[in-house]
Amino acid sequence: GGVAPSPPKDLFVVNSPNVEYTDAEIKSKYTYRTTAVTKGSDGKYVATPKETKYDFKVDRKVPKVGVLLVGLGGNNGTTVTAGILANRRGLSWATRTGTQTANYFGSVVMGSTIKLGTDEKTGQEINIPFHDLLPMVHPNDMVIGGWDISGLNLAEAMDRAAVLEPTLKQLVHKEMAAIKPLPSIYYPDFIAANQEDRADNLIPGSKACNEHVEHIRKDIRDFKAANNLDKVIVQWTANTERFADLIEGVNDTAENLLKAIETGHEEVSPSTVFAVASILEGAPFINGSPQNTFVPGAIALAEKHDAYIGGDDFKSGQTKMKSALVDFLISAGIKLTSIASYNHLGNNDGKNLSSQRQFRSKEISKSNVVDDMVAANSVLYKEGEHPDHTVVIKYMPAVGDNKRALDEYYAEIFMGGHQTISIFNVCEDSLLASPLIIDLVIVAEMMTRIQWKAQGEDGKYGNFHSVLSILSYMLKVSIHSSPVPSTNSAQAPLTPSGTPVINALAKQRAALTNIFRACVGLEPENDMTLEHKGL
Ligand code: NAI
Repeated sequence: GGVAPSPPKDLFVVNSPNVEYTDAEIKSKYTYRTTAVTKGSDGKYVATPKETKYDFKVDRKVPKVGVLLVGLGGNNGTTVTAGILANRRGLSWATRTGTQTANYFGSVVMGSTIKLGTDEKTGQEINIPFHDLLPMVHPNDMVIGGWDISGLNLAEAMDRAAVLEPTLKQLVHKEMAAIKPLPSIYYPDFIAANQEDRADNLIPGSKACNEHVEHIRKDIRDFKAANNLDKVIVQWTANTERFADLIEGVNDTAENLLKAIETGHEEVSPSTVFAVASILEGAPFINGSPQNTFVPGAIALAEKHDAYIGGDDFKSGQTKMKSALVDFLISAGIKLTSIASYNHLGNNDGKNLSSQRQFRSKEISKSNVVDDMVAANSVLYKEGEHPDHTVVIKYMPAVGDNKRALDEYYAEIFMGGHQTISIFNVCEDSLLASPLIIDLVIVAEMMTRIQWKAQGEDGKYGNFHSVLSILSYMLKVSIHSSPVPSTNSAQAPLTPSGTPVINALAKQRAALTNIFRACVGLEPENDMTLEHKGL
C-alpha cells in the first residue's frame, strides 16, 4: 500500500521497566498468574499459584484496512456501510424527535471505556476510551466493499432494508448508489428457497469448484490493490445457511476439503468457499451467521496457513442478554431451571429463517450459550443436569427489522420458591449488528499486529491460535465447540482442541480487555480497590 504510516498517537504511556516503546513497536514483558490445581488420592484439591512469563509485541503502525462483506446488499451490509459514511462525514439529520448525529453506540471498542487506573492524588478512577488502549484502526478510515447475490446498488438495497431514516438516506444516497456488490456464488440448496427471487448477481456455477475459490481470491486482491490497502478483513453477513453434513473424506481435513472443492462436492457451502478463499489469501475471515462454515477441514486449513478465523453468529440482542443474565443468576446461587426464548421478526433474515433447515442452524447457535455456566456450578446442578431451554423464531413481515425477543427465565429460589423473569426486548436488529461488524474488524485486525512468545525460550515471536476466541464477546458460538475436533492441532499449542468455551459475557469482555492490557504491560483489571479499604 502507498499510504503514509499514521504517526503513533497515544493517549497514555506506561511507565514501567517491563514496557518499551519504539517508533515501530510497543514491547511488554508480562507475568501471567494462574492457579494450577491437582487432586490428591485423598480427594483433596491442591491449588498452586503459577507464573508464566510472556513477551508481547505490538506493531504500532495503524494500517489502511478494507472490509469485504459477503451479503453487502443485506440489512446489515447496507446499514453498517451507511453508518460508517455518516460518521466519516459527521452527518446530522432531522428525525421525528429532533436532530440526530452519527455515532458508534453499541460498539464496545468505539462506545465503551476501560479503567486505566486511579488518580494518584484524588484516588478517582481514570477511564479511557477502549479504542485508545492500543493503536487500533478507526472505523471512519475503513474502506467497505463486498459481494451479494442481489445486484441492487447500495442505495436501492438500503431502501429495501427499510432500517434507516429517509433524511439520513438522502444524505448518503449518492455515495451508496455508487457502490454495487460484486457478483457472488449461489448454491440454492444452502439458503431458503424463498431467497431465489433476489439472486440475480451471480458467478456462474451452482456448486463449489476451484474457479469459485480463485474468483473470490482475485476479488480480494483487486479490492486491495484498487484501494491501496494494507490489509483486508472478510466477513460473512449473508443469509444463514443450513448446516453442512460432516463427512469423512470430504470436509474432515484440509486436504480433503480442498479436494472436495476441486471435484465439486455438493456438501461444500458458499460460506466455506469464501472462508477457504480468504484463508488462502491471508485475509482474516469472520462468520457472522450460525451455520458450520468452519468444518474441521476449514479450521485445519486456517491453522496450516497461520490465518485468522472467527465465528460463529453475531451476538447482538437476545443471546447477549442471555449470556449476561444467566451468568448473573447462576453466580448469585439461584437455580435457573428453564429458559423460553420467542422471537419474531419481519426482515429478510426472518424470511430466510422461516425455512426449517436454516432455522435449525440458528436454533443450535442460540441454545449453546449456557452450558459452561451450568457445568461450573456443581452446588446447584448435578452432573449432566441442565435447565430446559427452547428457542422459537417466527417470521412476521409487519414488524420489519424491529425484532421482538421475548424471554422467560424461570428459577428455583430459597426453600422451593420460584422466580420468573420476563424480558421483552425490541430493537432494530441491524442497528445492533452493525457495530458488532465494526468491532469484529477492529479487534481481528489488531490481533494481526500482536505477537507473543514465552519468555526464556529463544524462540521467535508467534501469532495467536488461528481461531480468534477473543472475538467471542461479539459472537454466539466459539467454533471450538465444533462437534468433530480438528484433526490438525499440531500447530495449535496455545489452544489445543477441546479448549473450554466461555460464554459468560463479563468474562468474555474481561478476556478482551485484559489481553489488550497485557500488550502494554498492565495488570488485569481487578475491582478489589484495596487502596480504598483502609489500613
Ligand atoms: P439479509 O437477508 O438482509 O442480508 C443477507 C444478504 O446476503 C442478502 O442481501 C442476500 O442477498 C445476501 N446473500 C445470500 N447468500 C449470499 C451469497 N452466497 N453470497 C453473497 N450474498 C449472499 O440479512 P441481515 O439481516 O443482514 O443478516 C445477515 C446475517 O447475519 C443473517 O444470517 C443473520 O442471521 C445474521 N445475524 C444477524 C443479526 C442481527 O442482529 N441483525 C444477529 C445475528 C446474526
